[in-house]
Amino acid sequence: MSTQRFAGKVMVVTGAAQGIGRAVALRAAAEGGKVLFVDRAEFVSEVAAEASGTETAGFVADLETYEGAASAMAFAVSKFGGIDILINGVGGAIRMRPFAEFEPEQIDAEIRRSLMPTLYACHAVLPHLLTRGGGTIVNVSSNATRGIRRVPYSAAKGGVNAITQSLAMEYAEHNIRVVATAPGGTDAPPRRVPRNTAGDSEREKVWMSDAVKQVTESTFFKRYGSIDEQVAPILFLASDEASYITGTVLPVAGGDTG
Ligand SMILES: NC(=O)c1ccc[n+]([C@@H]2O[C@H](COP(=O)([O-])OP(=O)(O)OC[C@H]3O[C@@H](n4cnc5c(N)ncnc54)[C@H](O)[C@@H]3O)[C@@H](O)[C@H]2O)c1
Repeated sequence: MSTQRFAGKVMVVTGAAQGIGRAVALRAAAEGGKVLFVDRAEFVSEVAAEASGTETAGFVADLETYEGAASAMAFAVSKFGGIDILINGVGGAIRMRPFAEFEPEQIDAEIRRSLMPTLYACHAVLPHLLTRGGGTIVNVSSNATRGIRRVPYSAAKGGVNAITQSLAMEYAEHNIRVVATAPGGTDAPPRRVPRNTAGDSEREKVWMSDAVKQVTESTFFKRYGSIDEQVAPILFLASDEASYITGTVLPVAGGDTG
């Protein structure tokens, strides 16, 4: 495997302050990419500064707004001269509840968190990819399109899969690939930014353990994956090694297909 797969490429990675997005952005930079680390957490610039690559920067934006997505893409172009690859990492279930227990505004919040940032960022990056004569979008979806205790999140990620397939079909003629991975449960260090800033109630902790049990038992390996096991397929799909793959949602969930 080449260790400089992204030499000369400009990459925008969202959700890059922690978790899977952070690890993807750091490895992309180590493999030669010029990487813009985008997140709404202010400390994203510290994370970008950890990178061993030649050129990186952090950018703070709220991707639940269209303006946030557009400003991130515009900054990447002004800083690095264009965009070749977008990796949409923002997302994650905020709450675990049986569907009947979700408040209406909590349903909306899940869609805003796990669908809209990808939809907005895909739209905002397109003019820049077209200017470049092509490019690649990798969406980080989830195997939770089939799962319990987070139906609104499942719906959001089903939407991400639909974006992936339809955008790929529509923009192939412009040399733009659109792909996704569907991670399963992933072990990660404690989050600096919690999914649910209000904290989980005792009932939500029980519902969370129901979901963890279902996710673990749905894998053939009966275990969570590691962050590295998620990063590798994301960056394979982002690289030119995957040049004949588009419109595909790749399950990365130990045998669970979501
Ligand atoms: N961790 C898992 O077990 C798992 C499993 C399946 C899928 N996924 C998916 O992988 C992706 C990354 O998950 P994770 O657990 O590593 O993430 P995480 O929850 O640890 O971090 C998400 C990052 O996104 C940022 N963010 C959230 N909302 C934002 C917004 N509106 N604008 C800008 N930044 C925002 C946060 O500040 C944070 O840095 C998500 O899309 C998630 O749905 C994760």
